[in-house]
Amino acid sequence: MSPGLKHKAIVMTVDYQTLSKTIAALTDGETDQVALMATVACEVHHADDRFDWTGFYRVTEPGLLKIGPYQGGHGCLVIPFDRGVCGAAARTGQVQLVPDVDAFPGHIACASSTRSELVLPVHNAARDVIGVFDIDSDKPDAFGAGDAAALGAILADVFAR
Ligand code: SME
Repeated sequence: MSPGLKHKAIVMTVDYQTLSKTIAALTDGETDQVALMATVACEVHHADDRFDWTGFYRVTEPGLLKIGPYQGGHGCLVIPFDRGVCGAAARTGQVQLVPDVDAFPGHIACASSTRSELVLPVHNAARDVIGVFDIDSDKPDAFGAGDAAALGAILADVFAR
């Protein structure tokens, strides 16, 4: 390593434009939701070191989420809408940006290493909430509004087209 680089903080950020193009190319013409979710989870997960668990929970019956395609350690299989960060996103249809999971009442700790979370509702073209997209980080305060906006646009491209 050159001396100039030695003490330089390397901040890794996602190239969301490239990520979005890659996902669009990989999912072009596909309509199967599991195939789409698996591809999005994989591509997003490997795009940034902040992302320690990346995946979907699907609405399988009214008020209930079940695990979908994901990357990372095992996730809880079932989350009712009235529980956790994922339940809040599904119930309200609103993005949940949680800088400190310990400060979120009812947070479900699938992994004790998780410090912060970003959960986005996933809508279909009819604007129904079909699931949520959950990214967990072992770093505190790992996510910003820019991540939420870029990921929301990717989800809309893939699931509401
Ligand atoms: N932490 C989430 C649960 C899902 S996992 O962490 C994979 C929540 O509180 O909804």
